[in-house]
Amino acid sequence: MARSLDTLTIHAGEPRDKAHDSLVTPLILSTAYPFRDTAELHRYFRGEIERNEEYGRYGNPTQAVAEARLAALDGGEAALLTASGMAAIVTTLLAIVKPGAHLVITADSYRKTRVFVRDFLAKFGVEHSCVEPDVAAIAAAITPRTRLIISETPTNPYLNCLDLEALAALARAHRIKTLIDATLATPFNLRPLEFGIDIVIHSATKYLGGHNDLLAGVVVGKREFIEALRDHQGMFGALPSPFAAYLLIRGLKTFAVRMQRHNESALRIARFLESHPGVERVWYPGLESHPSHAIARRQMRGFGGLISFTVRGNLEDATRVVDRVRIPFLAPSLGGAESLIEQPPLMSYYEKSPEERAALGIRENLIRLSVGLEDPEDLIADLAQALAP
Ligand SMILES: Cc1ncc(COP(=O)(O)O)c(C=O)c1O
Repeated sequence: MARSLDTLTIHAGEPRDKAHDSLVTPLILSTAYPFRDTAELHRYFRGEIERNEEYGRYGNPTQAVAEARLAALDGGEAALLTASGMAAIVTTLLAIVKPGAHLVITADSYRKTRVFVRDFLAKFGVEHSCVEPDVAAIAAAITPRTRLIISETPTNPYLNCLDLEALAALARAHRIKTLIDATLATPFNLRPLEFGIDIVIHSATKYLGGHNDLLAGVVVGKREFIEALRDHQGMFGALPSPFAAYLLIRGLKTFAVRMQRHNESALRIARFLESHPGVERVWYPGLESHPSHAIARRQMRGFGGLISFTVRGNLEDATRVVDRVRIPFLAPSLGGAESLIEQPPLMSYYEKSPEERAALGIRENLIRLSVGLEDPEDLIADLAQALAP
């Protein structure tokens, strides 16, 4: 029976009958799963019997339910839960690239991902090109050794959206794998696999968890590839904790209603900011003024909860606004119930000079707002008082 995403968030991936007649998926903390006797061990290693678990580093029943649910939400064959979004990215990249390979990564995306490619993979002879998040720019960077294209959509902090159908067609023509970090979109708003993308990654720390209380990541794709990643995870040992998987399953039950609220509130607040005289420019893909609006409208169901904007003035003027708001917390991260606000030039690029930030496209008067689940009218009133001269 076809189920809508709203129903999948609550039921996908778990057996109806659970241990101890529990209604909810139990939190299993066991690190090992005993065999009844040596005969069972023999049958297991000969492949004569199926057993889901053996040792905690190779899998955990609570993790398995979270993975099946996340695979269903993205419409993928399988998923791997990881200890963080960065663990998902690192595990995936290490599985795909080899010395001598080249990959294309887009600028205006999560800084640590770019740093991993630039500083870490380079040590192992992997080359890369960093280009604007635009299919024509990506096409121009492809070389005969390109093995992977990695991008975000929307990007961070300017929320540019990539035309995924065009990207998938380009990659297919060159036999290159595509990886999309869809953390900001979430499977509620965008399902990249439906456009022909090979692998999707999310920092589940953000909207999927949704409560600013867990770190996790997820990779979704073809079963064979995900099982290869699982082998690597069993070797690297950087597992998500069963408790994080439990919290994630719990958080996902309200995922669809939360995303609807994030989408509606952020659009209202983006429109308010765009009309405010103290605001210079707003980046939100739901606004007609955003350069990616047409693409976003075509491929997304909603536009997410993140807004970037510049205030009239300089870095200190932006600081004044951030320090005057009373509801959002001044913190990195996004996607939780609590609204968060920050200045990317300080929070993400503190050690850089204004000139270096400008070269990276990071404006001094830029503010990033993660719209939470508070009443949007309260947030608008708070922003209005913070932006007042
Ligand atoms: C788009 C994006 N991808 C990946 C990550 C990394 O996720 P985590 O913090 O869960 O490692 C982040 C974190 O902010 C992010 O914003």
